[in-house]
Amino acid sequence: MKASLPFATIVGVLAIGVMCATVGAEQTPTPQPPPAASSAPGAPAAPADTAPRSVLDGAYTEEQAKRGQPLYSRECASCHGPMLEGGEEAPPLSGGTFTSNWNGSTVGDVFDRIRFTMPADNPGRLSRQDDADVLAYMLSVASLPAGKTELPTQTEILKQIRFEPPKPKH
Ligand code: HEC
Repeated sequence: MKASLPFATIVGVLAIGVMCATVGAEQTPTPQPPPAASSAPGAPAAPADTAPRSVLDGAYTEEQAKRGQPLYSRECASCHGPMLEGGEEAPPLSGGTFTSNWNGSTVGDVFDRIRFTMPADNPGRLSRQDDADVLAYMLSVASLPAGKTELPTQTEILKQIRFEPPKPKH
């Protein structure tokens, strides 16, 4: 009996977390920093308190990034390179060029860019979930920290997560 208690507790906490994340959009707005300038006007209500505000807060999980890796290899690597280093025509999706391109925008902006224009030879081919997983993989390669919640698939929540370069390592 005793041994199963911690597990039950974890499951309970997770369930609450999932519920919060699901109803988050309808909850009373909490004070939040204003959404990044590029967000659409009339942005929807603030997400749950637990939603990360920045990619530096851990916006995806390691497991999600692992799911994204084979998708990246299959769908993106032919143009963007196996190490996300960029190809003849496609820009890098890692390193300083990539993170400074998107600095100051939101994860939702990158998500939309992928969703509407990538893979360049067949845009919109991937599901929202696949796009989110690939993006999680890109964040992990960019040395942005993993966290406890997966990157969601709703653009309006993704648009509340600021995109910033990783903190320099010491
Ligand atoms: C057929 C080649 C091709 C494939 C496959 C492809 N891309 Fe691209 N991608 C490009 C090119 C070319 C550009 C730059 C020109 C443009 O915007 O179309 C680009 C630009 C991007 C950008 C913008 C980069 C920046 O910093 O501005 C992102 C993000 C991106 N691609 C993600 C992806 C992802 C994720 C996949 C896989 C799901 C993917 N691409 C698959 C060719 C490709």
